[in-house]
Amino acid sequence: MKTKLLHTRWTFNERFQHWALAISFIVLVITGFQLKYPDAWWAKLLVGGDILFDLRSLLHRISGTIMLIMSFYHIYYMIATKRGRQLSKYLLPEKKDMQDLIKNIAYNFGLRSQPPEFGHFSYIEKVEYFALIWGTVIMAVTGLMLWFQELTLLLFSTWVIDLLTVIHLYEAWLATLAIVVWHFYYVIFNPDIYPIDTSMITGKITEEAFRDEHYLEWLKIQEEAGEDA
Ligand code: HEM
Repeated sequence: MKTKLLHTRWTFNERFQHWALAISFIVLVITGFQLKYPDAWWAKLLVGGDILFDLRSLLHRISGTIMLIMSFYHIYYMIATKRGRQLSKYLLPEKKDMQDLIKNIAYNFGLRSQPPEFGHFSYIEKVEYFALIWGTVIMAVTGLMLWFQELTLLLFSTWVIDLLTVIHLYEAWLATLAIVVWHFYYVIFNPDIYPIDTSMITGKITEEAFRDEHYLEWLKIQEEAGEDA
């Protein structure tokens, strides 16, 4: 039997961070929209029914706190660990990202025969990461200001509470749609990936996927291995 070569893409720590964020985000989406639309037909249908519905405000705050703790841990991880610093370096925007975007548009319009080649992260993954960071900052700041309203009102007029609620709500829609449409396309619905990208479960991708999706990094590893041999 032919065994598939596997390449490690995510460590256990990174997968733990991903799933802690994913689970807290899902609970925030469900409980947040239950708060906004309490009379909607689906609001009491979810697993947990009435109990979840009655506790929605508390669960929203608990999962918000988990998301905040994980965000601070993530900052520490990206700055203070060797692997985190390496990933931070890979995530830095560079001139090549803009060139890759233009090449990809040209490829999708049939003006180029080949798509661009990527390193550890493509420009698409970098934009998604920075959108996540930006979205989390907005949700955390507005969420905390709504949570500690008395404190907010010591500093601002009452209309600020309405403004914060509107920002929190529309960013919630944006974040939810970004995950469902954008992220789920890249990890589930993309015909090359379907039914699911398992790398966030196993931590590994096949050698074939590594070569196809991160060709420049794959090439570098081959060259280094050649030099060592
Ligand atoms: C970072 C952490 C977050 C914190 C600290 C936070 C906090 C809050 C608080 C205190 C409220 C008011 C709750 C109440 O009336 O009892 C609220 C409402 C809400 N939250 Fe969050 N939240 C966070 C993240 C999120 C996320 C990620 C989503 C969805 C993607 C979300 C969706 C909502 C929605 C839809 C509402 C109702 C807004 C309205 O009434 O118009 N929240 N949040």
